[in-house]
Amino acid sequence: MSESTILVERAEKVGIIRLNRPKALNALSATLIEELLKALKAFDQDAGIAAIILTGTERVFCAGADIKEQKELSFVRAYNTDYLKNLNDGLFAVHKPVIGVVNGYALGGGCELAMMCDILYAGENAVFGQPEIKLGTIPGAGGTQRLIRAIGKSKAMHMILTGETINAAEAEASGLVAKILPVDKVLGAAIETAQKIASFSAPVVAMAKEAVNEAEELGLKSGLHFESRLYHSCFGLTDHAEGFGAFLAKRDPQWVNE
Ligand code: CAA
Repeated sequence: MSESTILVERAEKVGIIRLNRPKALNALSATLIEELLKALKAFDQDAGIAAIILTGTERVFCAGADIKEQKELSFVRAYNTDYLKNLNDGLFAVHKPVIGVVNGYALGGGCELAMMCDILYAGENAVFGQPEIKLGTIPGAGGTQRLIRAIGKSKAMHMILTGETINAAEAEASGLVAKILPVDKVLGAAIETAQKIASFSAPVVAMAKEAVNEAEELGLKSGLHFESRLYHSCFGLTDHAEGFGAFLAKRDPQWVNE
């Protein structure tokens, strides 16, 4: 049997997915995408898991679409199989927060996969880039849309039109990543953050994630309306009464996730 293209483990209520195609620098083969989406779905549906971490190795997060596979793909096959659109759609459907932990290269589809995550932590050796232009194509897994939102038009256009990379410090300064840490510390720090998120009420975390993600879809007025609706929905949660009651009683809340 061939080796799995991802490795899955748990740290209490945190599900950890590691991309595992070291010889191809974790490139996004069709098999890897299929296994990754399956694992994400399984963690999302698992009541024992409250947050998910997606990472690679200390050398590479992901070097992008599998160049050998993409070279053989015809337009019709890419179109009919929703090539890479399936990855975007799959990540988009995850209710639980996904923290991306990037060490080393996050290039092309790898940078795009990182940007599909809700929070990004980077190791000091991280390198982000959209080098598709050098291969005679354009970013195809969200890069042209998400990079501009993450770092602004001029920097995004510069990366996409020149294929030049940015390092971890530049990624942090431009807002692409939330934190940079030493390579051997970054996964541990992300797990701690995930555990902190997992300590809150699960439906409230899911609603907060959904409301923030909607900001990328909606204009301000519609976004504020959407936020109000979800915010008012929180009033119906047992956890809302518990959180407010616990604060006023000066005790820790006991979440029931309802
Ligand atoms: N797909 C398939 N295989 C890849 C790969 C990729 N994206 N990136 C690297 N590999 C393979 C290499 O072919 C090589 O395999 P062999 O040992 O069999 O020759 C192995 O991984 C190691 O790679 P290198 O020898 O090149 O390693 P390096 O340390 O010298 O360089 C690198 C590392 C700078 C990341 C370089 O591998 C590289 O530039 N990779 C391609 C990055 C890229 O262009 N990504 C965009 C892909 S297209 C895309 O993603 C489209 C989209 O929008 C979704």
